[in-house]
Amino acid sequence: MRAIIIYASTHHGNTKKVVEQMAKYLSADLIDILQNEKPDISSYDIVGLASGVYFHSFHEKIKVFVNSNCFQKEQKVFLVATCGVQYIDYTKNIKKILKEKGVKCLGSFQCRGYDTYGIFGKLGGIAKKHPTTQDLKSAEDFVKKII
Ligand SMILES: Cc1cc2nc3c(=O)[nH]c(=O)nc-3n(C[C@H](O)[C@H](O)[C@H](O)COP(=O)(O)O)c2cc1C
Repeated sequence: MRAIIIYASTHHGNTKKVVEQMAKYLSADLIDILQNEKPDISSYDIVGLASGVYFHSFHEKIKVFVNSNCFQKEQKVFLVATCGVQYIDYTKNIKKILKEKGVKCLGSFQCRGYDTYGIFGKLGGIAKKHPTTQDLKSAEDFVKKII
């Protein structure tokens, strides 16, 4: 089983920490979409798509990638998001797009990530220690469960 995780992590590297933990368990290749906007996923069985949440949404480049019709029928996808304030499921919109495309989604993982954007920065930031060791363990448990 070959896995790849494509991520965007532009604020504090929070999402990167989470996907690095997952990649260790999955022996997955990790691709920063800001460095490589069109990674070739044709030889992978499992594709992770991960992003910090920016204005209630995944990073634009991840959204462009999802819309590029690059998935093959037998490929399975999972989603990862880190966010400052965790009150809704930020992976919902991408899940909906994948469903419309007939792509099988294995599930999603979301946790908080240190956030200093806007007013939160002036207040010293929120979700300061996130992703925590517990968050990283939960991330690993998530991939163990879906595989
Ligand atoms: C421009 C910007 C917009 C953000 N918008 C949201 C938001 O709408 N909801 C939220 O919960 N967090 C928001 N955040 C906080 C990030 O989602 C959070 O810090 C995340 O862990 C960043 O991940 P990264 O370090 O991998 O980029 C925003 C951060 C930035 C920089």
